[in-house]
Order: sequence, then structure tokens, then C-alpha cells
Amino acid sequence: MSKEVTFKVFRFDPEKDKKPYFQKYAFEPRQGMTILDGLFHIQRKIDGSIAFRSSCREGVCGSCAMHIGGKYRLACETQIKGLGKNITIRPLAHVPIIKDLVVDMKPFWNKYKSVKPYLMPGDPDPASHERIQSEDERKKIDVLIDCILCGACTSSCSVTATNEDYLGPAALMKANRFIRDTRDNATDERLRLVATENGAYRCHTIFSCQYVCPKDLNPQASIQEIQELGVKRILKEKE
Ligand code: SF4
Ligand code: FES
Repeated sequence: MSKEVTFKVFRFDPEKDKKPYFQKYAFEPRQGMTILDGLFHIQRKIDGSIAFRSSCREGVCGSCAMHIGGKYRLACETQIKGLGKNITIRPLAHVPIIKDLVVDMKPFWNKYKSVKPYLMPGDPDPASHERIQSEDERKKIDVLIDCILCGACTSSCSVTATNEDYLGPAALMKANRFIRDTRDNATDERLRLVATENGAYRCHTIFSCQYVCPKDLNPQASIQEIQELGVKRILKEKE
């Protein structure tokens, strides 16, 4: 029985092609090959013109997120085995295509930057030591700091698909990471940025972000936390 698999890969070069199309590549995968290995195999042995993005090859950098066999996944962490004989591969959605599986992440990064993803302690850094956290304080951000900013959650989100102004799950979870950080002192400013109509309150609790996250994170839980804090802030202002 043939061990061949076929990758059906999204192809589009905006400089040459009038519209996107799918191209099929059949090959026999080696034992343990990942989708990323398969794409490199195609690029080296079958068609050097195919474009995709990767860096660390071990699930750390987030650059190889794409839609693989019906779900957003990291190509470097996804085994070919188990996905069947025919595997369709598409780029991340709701961002412009640069070429084939390579997308322009600028809209994603612009939203990320808009939530001020850095510590704002409100006082000058201590001269002689770092800002100390207890073990318990550090635990509050334990899971949230595992986000590798791959963009899978944002691409899977139906609200992002229909509203380009929606901040999206990754940016909102990043905001919550700093809201929860005991060294940060800018919760009010952050809530003004993210507890908004096109921020946390735009979420429709579809949970696709949680379903696709390759790090098993739950951006929706962060969005809910922001929604609650936002309401509390407004009630406090009215007191
Ligand atoms: Fe990727 Fe998960 Fe972070 Fe979203 S929350 S950017 S899916 S690691
Ligand atoms: Fe870095 Fe896949 S290449 S996460």
C-alpha cells in the first residue's frame, strides 16, 4: 500500500496571479515528519517557488502558524501522520497575503502594540535591583506569559473576520497579562484601551481562540476578566 500523502497548498503571488489557487504535491513522508518538514521537502525537492515562514522549528517563535487539515496549528509541531492522505494547508486568515503561506502580520502587530504590551509601574526603575515579585504574585501571570503570539487565535475568530477594528484575543490576553502583573500600576489606563466597544465587549464568546491555541491557553477567560473589570471601573466612577 502506498504511503504517499498529498499536500494541497494555497498558492498566491499578488504580483503574478489574478487569484489564489491550490497546488497538489505528493510525496512519501519519512517517519516522524512534521508538516513543516513536509513543506521544506516540497521546497527543496519538488517546487522551489513555494513560500512559507518558520524560524525556531520547535513551537517557540510562533511564525509557522497556518491552517492545516481543518484547524489552525503550528506546522513545526504537527505530525503528518494522523492527518490522513490529503492535507489542505492555507495561510492565517484576516491578514493580507504576501505570498502563498506567508502573510503580512502588520494588522496583528498594530493591535498588539495598541494595548501597550509592556510594564508601566508608574515610578522610575530601582537603581540597584530588579522589581521583585513573590512566588504567588508571579503565579498570577504564569499561564498568560506562555503566549507565543502566533496569531492562530485571532485568525480563527469570527468576530475578527467581520470587524477589522476588533482588537482580537491575543492582544486582549496580553493586556490582561499586564493588568494581572503586580508590578504594573496602569490598570485604569489599560482598561480605557481594552474594555471598549471594539475591545473586550466585542467578543461573542465563540471560544474558537481557546480551541485552536497551540499552547492550550484560554484568551476568552482573559477577555471575560477584562469585561468584568471594565464594568467595575464604570460603577466605581459613578459612585
Ligand atoms: Fe497563539 Fe495561543 Fe497566543 Fe493566540 S493565545 S497568539 S493562539 S499562543
Ligand atoms: Fe517556531 Fe513553528 S517554527 S513555532
